[in-house]
Amino acid sequence: MITVFGSINVDISVAAQRLPQPGETVLGGQSLLSPGGKGANQAHAARRFGAEVRMVGAVGDDAFAAPGLQYLAGAGVDIGGVASIPGQSTGMALIVLDAAGENTIVVAPGANLLASADQVSEQELRGSGALLLQLETDAGASMALARRARSVGCKVIMNASPLDQGAQLDPHAIDTLIVNHDELRQLAQRAGVQGATPAALATALARRYANEVLVTLGAQGALLAGADGGVLSVPAFDVKVIDSTGAGDTFAGVFAAAVADGAGRRQALTYASAAAALACTRRGAQAAQPDRREIEQLLARQQQGVST
Ligand code: RIB
Repeated sequence: MITVFGSINVDISVAAQRLPQPGETVLGGQSLLSPGGKGANQAHAARRFGAEVRMVGAVGDDAFAAPGLQYLAGAGVDIGGVASIPGQSTGMALIVLDAAGENTIVVAPGANLLASADQVSEQELRGSGALLLQLETDAGASMALARRARSVGCKVIMNASPLDQGAQLDPHAIDTLIVNHDELRQLAQRAGVQGATPAALATALARRYANEVLVTLGAQGALLAGADGGVLSVPAFDVKVIDSTGAGDTFAGVFAAAVADGAGRRQALTYASAAAALACTRRGAQAAQPDRREIEQLLARQQQGVST
């Protein structure tokens, strides 16, 4: 069982030729309203890969609560740990995509910030192989839960995203830290460690905090650095990017699910990388996530040298 403590949003995204400048209005194309939120996206990705997943978080008592949970429920994620908070709005994200599939996102967290570590019992933590966290919920609640999880032997995987809220992380309570290149640089700066390359920086961070650091590098693939100095890296899959929203979430969810399923680190990285690539080929966050069969088909095609 993987327990995901994190955000649940409804995403409203609009595709445009290019992102607007400050003060500018651009005409876009088709809009899409679909379930998102970093926590929910990661839970959905892990479930699509085949893991048993329990989602813990909070929605409001508005009309967006049901659509926010629709894909999780449909995929068989246990949503019994999701609180409905009276008088609060369900989290919402406003997303603009450009022609290359890159995005800008603004999130109104709403009820997400009221999700509490108390929603997860001791027994649930003991029964979980891993706790998967992000930073769209209250960072203090996430860290409190991480410390409780570690104390009962549950592995803690944190995707430290988004990092812009000045969140105080306790990396000593984290087993696996998942970051993108910008987040890696910011955390390394905070920790006062240096390195000339992403691998060196990630190794320095892993040594400092005695955990492993997984870095997603977009077109450069991904790498995993351990405190022992070992670095694994996998290349990115070459796909036509339509919408990169939630690709990092797909990566984190599938990595956690593959590890829970007993995959070695390189195999888990490869599954995660293939899943994230596939998720970029379609619109939406959860709506774009592949299941395990599709991921394995991509890996088989790649082994046979068939272009994606
Ligand atoms: O990581 C992508 C997610 O970020 C979107 O689904 C949006 O809800 C925001 O939380």
